[in-house]
Amino acid sequence: MAILVTGGAGYIGSHCVRMLKQRGFDVIAADNLVKGHASACSDVPLYIGDVGDPDFLEDLFQKEDIDSVIHFAAYSLVGESVEAPGKYFSNNVGAGLNLLETMRRHNVMYLVFSSTAAVYGDQERSPIEEDFPKSPTNPYGESKLMVERIMHWYESAHGLRYAALRYFNVAGAFGNLGEDHRPETHLIPLVLAAAAGKQTLKIYGTDYPTPDGTCIRDYLHVYDLVNAHLLALDYLKGGGESGAFNLGSGAGFSVLEIIRAAESVVGHEIPKEEAPRRAGDPPRLVASSQKAQEVLGWTRQYDNIETIIKDAWDWHKCHPEGYGN
Ligand code: UFG
Repeated sequence: MAILVTGGAGYIGSHCVRMLKQRGFDVIAADNLVKGHASACSDVPLYIGDVGDPDFLEDLFQKEDIDSVIHFAAYSLVGESVEAPGKYFSNNVGAGLNLLETMRRHNVMYLVFSSTAAVYGDQERSPIEEDFPKSPTNPYGESKLMVERIMHWYESAHGLRYAALRYFNVAGAFGNLGEDHRPETHLIPLVLAAAAGKQTLKIYGTDYPTPDGTCIRDYLHVYDLVNAHLLALDYLKGGGESGAFNLGSGAGFSVLEIIRAAESVVGHEIPKEEAPRRAGDPPRLVASSQKAQEVLGWTRQYDNIETIIKDAWDWHKCHPEGYGN
């Protein structure tokens, strides 16, 4: 029986496929390669197609003996989702629904879902716990929350067991894999691109209500993040209750602190300039991951921000053009 990883050629999906293979699981991947890179997913069968395409997915489920799914495939640019909400609802919600329907028809009842801290929107209290109010401030977060709600109803009606993993910020790399988004919008890869002399880093906003005026985020190593997916699947298969789990470190770093940590990793100053705030950025997003620790038995192997940045930097140095074309 195989685990299907959707979005298996993307940044987090490809690392998840690698970890599953390393631990001896039978894995197949699906990816439409709109954002993913085929060469990031070369050690398992990769079905190229769209999870929102009913014929593609039905064909895949007929050919393969699938017993569970880890669902990453989605669009994930907050700014773009504000400009083009239809794209996000049709892709993220539409594909999620098609996946759930196909799973139901084939009686596949275990689903680990890649959700996001963006389901919470702006919160007064910190660290954020799973039962805090959900008030997404953009269609991306809303689309993920909608899939979470749909999974809940599939559990009631059909007995689906699901874990919605709400990611905060993710960075780092392992194996010969890494982070190559096009366009890149994330802080750490952009800091490293600036360190490599490709551009000047823009610091989006220095007047936030935080100690140094820049936004605070909670960064996790991609290894620890994907490890939580394996634990969540194991938990569901062992009879664990469906639910949502935050994945973060509980520690917050400001944009300036990340730049300073990166400067110490690369050994020189990084070109940077102040810029206006980016629309939709909450000042502070830090997770409480106590539930994941207690219920899934999740512990982090990487608790040093410089190690996370160093792993990303090592990949960047070896792959200055990312995965190429
Ligand atoms: N930032 C800069 N300059 C840059 C890029 C980012 O100053 O060039 C700042 C951002 O304004 C923000 C922080 O760095 O304050 C982190 O930004 P990222 O884009 O790296 O990450 P986000 O926190 O915006 O987004 C992440 C995920 C989203 C998810 C969101 C949940 O990438 O998918 O967390 O809040 F929706």
